[in-house]
Amino acid sequence: MPEDEGLALHRAALAAGASGHRPFLEVGTYCGKSAVYLGAAARQTGNVLFTVDHHHGSEELQAGWPYHDPEVVDPRTGAMDTLPFARRTIRDAGLEGHVVLVVGDSVTVARAWAEPLSLLFIDGGHGEDVAWGDYRAWAAKVAEGGTLAIHDVFADPKEGGQVPYDIYRAALASGAFEEVSATGSLRLLARLETGPTLTFPHRAASGPRTPAHHQTAALPPCVPGPLRSSGPMARPEFDPLARRGND
Ligand SMILES: C[S@@+](CC[C@H](N)C(=O)[O-])C[C@H]1O[C@@H](n2cnc3c(N)ncnc32)[C@H](O)[C@@H]1O
Repeated sequence: MPEDEGLALHRAALAAGASGHRPFLEVGTYCGKSAVYLGAAARQTGNVLFTVDHHHGSEELQAGWPYHDPEVVDPRTGAMDTLPFARRTIRDAGLEGHVVLVVGDSVTVARAWAEPLSLLFIDGGHGEDVAWGDYRAWAAKVAEGGTLAIHDVFADPKEGGQVPYDIYRAALASGAFEEVSATGSLRLLARLETGPTLTFPHRAASGPRTPAHHQTAALPPCVPGPLRSSGPMARPEFDPLARRGND
């Protein structure tokens, strides 16, 4: 997540957190970078971020895809496991009291989730079934007046996969959300106070997307993983917000 998008997400969470004590929820923790931006806002507003991930990587993060990071593969199982990286990121940012790592499939967690959310950030898998599953499972859980944030929204297919863009358009078309701002590929939407009941088309009118569209253009490698031997997150004091005096 680029810094400008992270800071926009942080500001949105500050505003959402200030308006009440409903939790934030993120779909797609990966190594915890965006969770630090959201978690810092949770800390400042006395709120909690729940961040959901099975930690085995999306289809587009597996071996053979451009953003695959072999460092996050568990040598014992041969499968991706970003949970240790995420745990260390949150601990090193001093956010363990405000960020809860929820390990599991997003839709499975959503089925058991009743609490309305003051902010929902959708940044899970970008494949069609997975991303639509996240939208359908979680969007209606945004409280009236709450914020829906969607990452990797690209109107131009040359810039990135189109499924997050389809979801963003579906949220606007539902009549339950209006756009608040755009920063890079991050879109912030507000749930209308008197919004209609959400309807959930399975996919956009443009039809099914091919696997080639699954690839995300904006995801960096697992840079925030402080288990790495080098890189910015190797420093235990890493906190993208503290350095700017925003938290
Ligand atoms: C784009 S990355 C998240 C990046 C992170 N938000 C950030 O900016 O630092 C997507 C994550 O979604 C997770 N994911 C994909 N499908 C999932 C599912 N069905 N349930 C839970 N997590 C899922 C992957 O394991 C991956 O870590």
